Amino acid sequence: MATKPAGSLGATPRRDLQRATFARASAIMPGGADSNFRSWGEDTVYIDRGLGSHIWDLDGNEYIDLRMGYGPVILGHADPRVDDHVNERMRRGVSFSLTTEDEVRAIELIRELTGWVDMARLTVSGTEATMHAMRTARAYTGRTKIVKFEGQYHGVHDYALISVVPNDISLLGDRDNPVRLAWGRGIPSAVADTVIPVSYNDTQTLQRVFEEQGDDIAGVIIEPVLGNAQGILPREGFHQEVRALTRAYGAVLIFDEVKTGFRFARGGAAEYFGIEPDLATYAKAMGNGYPVAAFGGRAEIMQVMPEHMSHGGTYAGNRVAAAAAVATLETLRDGTVLATIARTGRTLQAGLAEVAAGRGLPLSFTGHPTMFGMIFAETAPSDYRGWAETDHDLYDAVALGMHSRGAMPEPDSREPWFLSAAHSDADIARVVDVFADSLDAALEARAHAGRRAGGQGA
Ligand SMILES: Cc1ncc(COP(=O)(O)O)c(C=O)c1O
Repeated sequence: MATKPAGSLGATPRRDLQRATFARASAIMPGGADSNFRSWGEDTVYIDRGLGSHIWDLDGNEYIDLRMGYGPVILGHADPRVDDHVNERMRRGVSFSLTTEDEVRAIELIRELTGWVDMARLTVSGTEATMHAMRTARAYTGRTKIVKFEGQYHGVHDYALISVVPNDISLLGDRDNPVRLAWGRGIPSAVADTVIPVSYNDTQTLQRVFEEQGDDIAGVIIEPVLGNAQGILPREGFHQEVRALTRAYGAVLIFDEVKTGFRFARGGAAEYFGIEPDLATYAKAMGNGYPVAAFGGRAEIMQVMPEHMSHGGTYAGNRVAAAAAVATLETLRDGTVLATIARTGRTLQAGLAEVAAGRGLPLSFTGHPTMFGMIFAETAPSDYRGWAETDHDLYDAVALGMHSRGAMPEPDSREPWFLSAAHSDADIARVVDVFADSLDAALEARAHAGRRAGGQGA
């Protein structure tokens, strides 16, 4: 399958076709891409294909993929176990806006794998799942406000885009009295006013917020680890304290498992951390890259639908999505996939740690071996504000260097590396080599810049 990556050590990746495509695309698509997060200026990547753990761009450069589509591709690109089932179903017609048996089967599997989700509904994206989970919490409690944690990303609906990931941390206000910071224009202040941001790992402020506004708080939505901010981990007891506070104040606890679900464990982060939330949202790993998501939880809460709360969608539970979920979730249930990925992740982390140690650099990992962030420091931060104080510029330079050497992590330290069942031992050895060379180049560039600045100052 995989040959030596074209953008490998020493070789400069070809970019002609992609630069031309960027010129074409940016005339008709803002930023030249369908998502702000994929718009990397002149370096925007236009992809041709993927197989297993490798991807090829339009210019034919090959990379070991460490993004895996921001997490969904848990089995590997173009996995036949999923694709064959989807293809077979597609040939029977794709869109009915009526329910197929695969939808029922997918939700039975969610129930089986989580052990606590009594009822669920499928959606197309994680954004829809968190939007509906928040609405469900409001509809069930009759209250308005939702608490979220700074640095958490719950998708692109208005209620989710508050205090997400600003580069300028001062915009977030005081830690114990955070500002509701809308990400960009277009979010009505009336919507922002219904969201209460709190610092991750800070239950003192959460408790105060409940004491002051508990009667109006419908729910707390939480990424079990800060999956969109370096994979920062909960401190000991954090989730238990959030669970106790939400119970005490009658608020719905929503675990946003869009990244962690069916990845950290079969039952997601809820199983991994031993917490039973009230609702959860799932997406990414449940469909191996096909657009499928879900929100679900306790029957008593979910039964606010169909009578008292709106939920629908022409493509909700569509044939392709439901078929992909069935095949992916069955594979995750029956095999040892998750244990294998975790083992691969630990091997990779050990290799990266050895590289850093060999250069006298501290390196700590966040997240989970299947989805981890890294930080050049003795200890990892405990919240998003802490991330801002870390040396993420060095990481970003290393990540970009890796692209030119044939491995593709996200070039932003906030996004974790994602591993799949398709990453082989050879891939891992190669990634470690690429990391070492990229780190050396970034350190040399930094030393050079320091020498120049010193020279200029003298
Ligand atoms: C934790 C979390 N929630 C929600 C979303 C939104 O999912 P989608 O991109 O499918 O809308 C994401 C996307 O990365 C996410 O990481």
